[in-house]
Amino acid sequence: MRIIESENDIGFITAAYVKKRINEAGGRIVLGLPTGGTMESFYKHLVEFCAKGELSFKEVVTFNLDEYIGLPRGDKESYRSYMNSRLFDMVDIEPANIHFPDVYAEDLEKAGLEYDKKIESYGGIDIFLGGVGRNGHIAFNEAGTPFDAPTHKVELSESTRKANSRFFNNDINAVPKYAFTMGMGTILKSREIIILASGEKKSEALYRAVEGPVSPQWPISALRLHNNSYIVADPKALSQVSTAGKKRFSVCSFGDCQGGCK
Ligand code: GLP
Repeated sequence: MRIIESENDIGFITAAYVKKRINEAGGRIVLGLPTGGTMESFYKHLVEFCAKGELSFKEVVTFNLDEYIGLPRGDKESYRSYMNSRLFDMVDIEPANIHFPDVYAEDLEKAGLEYDKKIESYGGIDIFLGGVGRNGHIAFNEAGTPFDAPTHKVELSESTRKANSRFFNNDINAVPKYAFTMGMGTILKSREIIILASGEKKSEALYRAVEGPVSPQWPISALRLHNNSYIVADPKALSQVSTAGKKRFSVCSFGDCQGGCK
């Protein structure tokens, strides 16, 4: 695990890196894509790069990380709607290359395993992008999810539903109780993992990621088990991490940085 701390827009920094990686791969890359407030700027910049002709999604394959269970198709708070309005409707991606877990399937367990098989059929995820919940959840893998879990149905925690109620008129009862999420096992198989975190509210999660034991109680701590994972964060999100903790993991940029920059 490595940490990139920046006071600049972490969405822009990450979008610029992903653009570079897509272009280096000749346009063909498999991305794991998240939703959430933290990612808004990331998508805005990807769309801008496309508008300027610096990036194309023509050959890009995407797998979204999660989706609510129980919302009607096309609901404006579904993650599919989020992705359509932030990215898919604004860039030249082929609809057949967009993948979501099938939350409408009768047999959800089977649908989860099929999602993982589909990811494997594309050679796995090259770059997994994600946010982090205040309780350290990644995608919708709540505390206690085994690190080898496949894509599966989850019951959302009170804390996650409370945090997400801001998208449902602050009514926690309107937030679905269940969701479908890419499993921690699926996520950890990605070749590269990039987690974005911004603001004080994420500071305990990052403290646990860096200083606590590696434990399913804090899913984000699993990043320490992966040899090509990054946390891109602003100083507020890193405010609980000690200087020693930062020193251990800090790098100044993606890729070729050898550390020693802090
Ligand atoms: C939701 C999503 C997560 C996301 C988290 C943080 O719970 N399922 O994938 O990481 O929100 O979102 P935000 O960036 O809005 O804090």
